[in-house]
Amino acid sequence: MHLRAILQIVVAISLLLSYAKIEARQSLSKVEDLELERQLKLINKPAIKTIKRKYGEIYDCVDFYKQPAFDHPLLKNHNFHPEMKPTLPNLQGDDTSSNINKPFNIGLKGGGCPTETIPIKRITKDDLIRQRLLSHIRGADESPDGDDIESSILDRNNSIATVQIPYNSTNKITGAGAIISLHNPQNLSGHQFSAGRIKVQNGIESIQVGWIVNPYVYGDTHTRLYTYLKTEKLACFNTRCPGFIHINTAIPLDGDLPGSTYGGPIYDVPMYIARDISNGNWWFKFGPNYTSVGFWPSKIFTKLNEFATSVEYGGIVYSPPGVPEPSMGGGYFPVGDLKKDGYFKNSTYLTDKNETKSLDDIEVKLYANSPNLYRVTDYPNSGVESGNLVLYGGPGEHI
Ligand SMILES: *[C@@H]1O[C@H](CO)[C@@H](O)[C@H](O)[C@H]1NC(C)=O
Ligand SMILES: *[C@@H]1O[C@H](CO)[C@@H](O)[C@H](O)[C@H]1NC(C)=O
Ligand SMILES: *[C@@H]1O[C@H](CO)[C@@H](O)[C@H](O)[C@H]1NC(C)=O
Ligand SMILES: *[C@@H]1O[C@H](CO)[C@@H](O)[C@H](O)[C@H]1NC(C)=O
Ligand SMILES: *[C@@H]1O[C@H](CO)[C@@H](O)[C@H](O)[C@H]1NC(C)=O
Ligand SMILES: *[C@@H]1O[C@H](CO)[C@@H](O)[C@H](O)[C@H]1NC(C)=O
Repeated sequence: MHLRAILQIVVAISLLLSYAKIEARQSLSKVEDLELERQLKLINKPAIKTIKRKYGEIYDCVDFYKQPAFDHPLLKNHNFHPEMKPTLPNLQGDDTSSNINKPFNIGLKGGGCPTETIPIKRITKDDLIRQRLLSHIRGADESPDGDDIESSILDRNNSIATVQIPYNSTNKITGAGAIISLHNPQNLSGHQFSAGRIKVQNGIESIQVGWIVNPYVYGDTHTRLYTYLKTEKLACFNTRCPGFIHINTAIPLDGDLPGSTYGGPIYDVPMYIARDISNGNWWFKFGPNYTSVGFWPSKIFTKLNEFATSVEYGGIVYSPPGVPEPSMGGGYFPVGDLKKDGYFKNSTYLTDKNETKSLDDIEVKLYANSPNLYRVTDYPNSGVESGNLVLYGGPGEHI
């Protein structure tokens, strides 16, 4: 199905449902209900197997060749296949022997989906209704053509606290990664979100990977793995964005992650965005040994098909105007303690010479646009154990 068609479905639903009716789901008329069912059948791809997770969400094992990415107009003709592997330089920081973090299961139980299928979180009727309801409340800042249900969510009036390799047209960055601490900021609702993430960017095009609490998108306040893609035409999360080719059979993009407790136990996980040396596809590598999750093909980009010109490591949050800002990272200003702070350990990037470089090797910029609420620090060379260390976080307005 054409990308535009998917987006139009979402718009169609919004026209169909008036504010009052969405409020009480029971009052959906038979016709509206049938329409929602019809739309869901188009959005959710046929499942070869389904896997239920602990919070009740369902993952559909979808045939590799039927995944949403192939709805992208530029990916209609492709020779991608489920056994693809990237050519990458050695990535650092995949050692999980550190004794302060606690191991956890990253994949779906029982090995996940059968070979040649990939796990996708099923979109439910409640997801559609919630997102429409909240969009009505959001009202004014909705884009005029209503084309982008999730677009610009990460591009609005956000507060961020990050360490950046600032933009320079001569930068030829081919990857970025770190061992990222995981958190579960409390009491988020509505359109609020709070995330820790790595972002690579060239012009308006960017890729983000990290953890997020985002009740608008997920309908819950669990910490989840997320990716976010922005191109001229697209801006969306995870597999909702036709553009990410999912390869891994056991690691879903929306998977729930554990949250660290202030003082411990601490959970963290390696994540990397790395450009395939042989063809320019950008891969998402996740977890111990940097398992391949999937990739964004070079041909969906007009800028990132070359190199990244800037990179960011840190936190980002959003609250609608008038709603107190949520907490970021561990929920406190960084104090230099890995049992308390939100962190990016062994923060590194890749060069066009196939080298892995520490953030110590380049001039970085600390950026915090609400320093009374959230802060960031960078500890260069903080020892063999942790390499360059980015620490970030803050209480927001929940003091
Ligand atoms: C972090 O980086 C340092 C130096 O770059 C390296 O020696 C060390 O093994 C790395 N640590 C982990 C946990 O990967
Ligand atoms: C953006 O955030 C700043 C600081 O929190 C606030 O002063 C400003 O009013 C916000 N702007 C909009 C358009 O919400
Ligand atoms: C961009 O990088 C080049 C080469 O490293 C350097 O000479 C130049 O000063 C940088 N420009 C800015 C604006 O930082
Ligand atoms: C979350 O909300 C509960 C109930 O309102 C409150 O007791 C708790 O302190 C809040 N937690 C944070 C971190 O704001
Ligand atoms: C990572 O690789 C090592 C060495 O190949 C292996 O022993 C270990 O089981 C792997 N860990 C995971 C979680 O796959
Ligand atoms: C980077 O690695 C690839 C594959 O190993 C190789 O073809 C290429 O020449 C290398 N580039 C540089 C600048 O070393």
